[in-house]
Amino acid sequence: MTGQPAPAQGRVAVISGGSRGLGRIMVERLLAEGWKVATFSRSANEFVKDTLAERSEDFVWEAVDLSDRKALRQFVSATARRFGGVDLLINNAAVLNRQELFLTTSAGQVDTLIASNLAAPIALAQACARVMSTRQGGQIINVSSINAIRGYRGVAVYAATKAGLDGFSRSLARELGPLNIRVNSIVPGFFDSDMTTDVTDQNRERIQRRTPLGRLADVEEIANAVHFLISDQASFITGQTIVVDGGITC
Ligand SMILES: NC(=O)c1ccc[n+]([C@@H]2O[C@H](COP(=O)([O-])OP(=O)(O)OC[C@H]3O[C@@H](n4cnc5c(N)ncnc54)[C@H](OP(=O)(O)O)[C@@H]3O)[C@@H](O)[C@H]2O)c1
Repeated sequence: MTGQPAPAQGRVAVISGGSRGLGRIMVERLLAEGWKVATFSRSANEFVKDTLAERSEDFVWEAVDLSDRKALRQFVSATARRFGGVDLLINNAAVLNRQELFLTTSAGQVDTLIASNLAAPIALAQACARVMSTRQGGQIINVSSINAIRGYRGVAVYAATKAGLDGFSRSLARELGPLNIRVNSIVPGFFDSDMTTDVTDQNRERIQRRTPLGRLADVEEIANAVHFLISDQASFITGQTIVVDGGITC
């Protein structure tokens, strides 16, 4: 074990929710750098179909739901068998139900949020870390949210799952550091994606007004931070939550 990152060529990434939004950008960037990439989502879109057709040697996609932990573990095992290991996990996929006040949130919605946004990333991290621990190390990036560090109406349970993920990252970094596995959280501010189509123009303007940089993030700017953590430049960073929010939480 040298502590030095392996060259990107041939390294293996597992990315949850790589069909759209931030996950898709990370799939595209890592494939372009020579990584082998395995991703899943509930459904395939044109991007997934085209990439499967064009990059069948390096790209795997399966239909898996975050709530099915057995399927998540099988997905990781199949990836490790197919590509010979796992070097990186990006816990990117999450669900955000239509924003709803806590007093009317059903027990079923609470269960779904906790299963998808917290239990699933934990299960994926455990499956991937077991593979990484038998090799030269690796890294795990958990995609959190500013909802984990500031209160917002209508997202209490989502916020709880993301705050849980940040705590998970810190303690896991302590436990896995000696195995040369780095663990960090990325905390994005608001960016446009399918997850945020419900946000009203009024709320969008309010977010913009409260953001020191005076605008929303471009998803590419969030991907830049994820990309930095993956890069050799971040080889001594672990156990951190990196906030990328234009200053809205400062
Ligand atoms: N957008 C924002 O403003 C914002 C702000 C802060 C943090 N974040 C976080 O950033 C991450 C990416 O968000 P995004 O906006 O890029 O999301 P997005 O555009 O909604 O994409 C989510 C991805 O996850 C997959 N997915 C969703 N639910 C799933 C499930 N139950 N099982 C399997 N796959 C599932 C989706 O595919 P299918 O629907 O086909 O399953 C899709 O590939 C999330 O962790 C989110 O919480 C986003």
